[in-house]
Parts: sequence; C-alpha cells; structure tokens
Amino acid sequence: MGGQTRANRKPNTSKAAISSKEQLMAADEARDVATCGRSLMRLEDTRFASAGAHDPTPTPYFVLEALFAHFDLTPDSHVLDVGCGMGRALAYFAEAGLPGRMTGVELDPALAEFAAAWTKDKKNLQVICGDVLNVPLAPYSHFYLFNPFATAVLLKFLAMVEAEATRPITLVHMSDNGETYFYTGRTGWSLIDEGEFQKYPPSGSASKAAMPKAPAAQPLVRGSFKVYDHPQHYSVWRFEP
Ligand SMILES: C[S@@+](CC[C@H](N)C(=O)[O-])C[C@H]1O[C@@H](n2cnc3c(N)ncnc32)[C@H](O)[C@@H]1O
Repeated sequence: MGGQTRANRKPNTSKAAISSKEQLMAADEARDVATCGRSLMRLEDTRFASAGAHDPTPTPYFVLEALFAHFDLTPDSHVLDVGCGMGRALAYFAEAGLPGRMTGVELDPALAEFAAAWTKDKKNLQVICGDVLNVPLAPYSHFYLFNPFATAVLLKFLAMVEAEATRPITLVHMSDNGETYFYTGRTGWSLIDEGEFQKYPPSGSASKAAMPKAPAAQPLVRGSFKVYDHPQHYSVWRFEP
C-alpha cells in the first residue's frame, strides 16, 4: 500500500525547551495557531453530559503523532474523528499533510460551528454537527476516538460500525477508564496494539512515533513530567466486515 511514512510526515518544529505540562500545552497552542489561525485549547465542561458526552478535551499533539502512526493512510482513506471538539485531530491531519480525507463529527453545536469555521477552506477536512449515532458510517476507513462518550453510546456506535462497514476498518480508541473490554469478544475485531500515555516525553512503543526523527526538529525537553494524572490507555483495532 502507498500509505504515509514517518519520513514524509512533517515533524514538530518547535525548538523551545519544554519542561512542564504548561509549556507543552503552550507549544500545542502555537501549533494550532500555525495550522488553523486560532487556539483549539479551550478547556470546559460538556453541556451534553445527559447524552453521555465527555468533556471536549483536545488530544495533545505528541499523542496524535503516536496514534495516527497506526493508521496506514492512502489517498482513498477517510478518517472520522468521533467527537471532534474544536478540531485538534483535524488540525494534526492538516499539519502533517496526511493522505486522504478527514471528517469530524461533533454533538455540541457551538464546538462544531467553531471547528467548521476554521476547516472551511481546507479541501480535505469536513465537520458534521450532530450525533455520530445518526451519521452513516460506510464511507469511513478509519475511526479516531479520544474518550468521546459513555459506554452505552460506545456500544451503539460499535454495533453501527459492524452493521455498516463495507471495507476493513482501522480504529484507534484512547480513554481514561479502559476501553479494551468493550471490543473483546465481538465478532470481526482484532487487537493490533495497545499501550498508554501519561508522561512527556512518552516511553515504550509510543515514543517511537511521537518523537520526530530529525534531531534538529526535536523540541528540547528537560526531564520528563506528567501530562495526565492517570494513565490514558489506547488500543488499535482492525475490523473485518
Ligand atoms: C474528549 S473530546 C475529543 C476531542 C477531539 N477528538 C480531540 O481528540 O482533540 C470528546 C468530544 O466528543 C463529543 N461527543 C460526545 N458524544 C458525541 C456523540 N454522540 N456524537 C458526536 N460527538 C460526541 C463531545 O462533545 C466532545 O467534544
């Protein structure tokens, strides 16, 4: 397959020293601004908890670099960010120049409007305002889920993927309370990889993709520090219809 390689992905070009979570978040905001002209960092509580929605926390770029390395993307690929918030994962897709297209679906109309505003001039990005449970899933080859919603919604979403997929699917799911259990034992799903993030710089298998190769492009990092109070577990799944 002619998918993306690490070599043709744009590295993080920040050269600032990063020694705290605050500095890492500031570097991420600078990347937001460079790609979309605005920060995607607003942290707030969801207004849709009664619908099972989780808070619209953006994924840090170093996590996106590691997780999207599991997507073997080609010009035919179409990624769906399930619960895109203000659009951080869409911004990473654009910044990295990844092949194919990416769509974000967002339940909160204010967040969807924000993401739609900055993506409107980017040809390969699209934002849908609404509940993913009302979105036809057949067009998508890849799904990205960063802690979007409660178990009841996840189970309905997985049943939809199983019913609607017409080609093999790669799905990455990161959560703070363990998502693997909900996939295990379902027909058609195979676990490709799993791991966790808590500190920056990351260690283990996540570090290989998250840290750019070219030494000149690496941010200076002094020691390691916690980004999350608790480890964030991720798993990568293949679904064969
Ligand atoms: C943790 S945020 C992830 C933001 C973004 N994916 C990222 O990685 O930066 C989860 C988002 O999922 C959205 N969400 C929750 N339930 C949803 C649903 N049923 N359909 C669409 N979006 C949903 C929430 O409103 C929230 O903005």
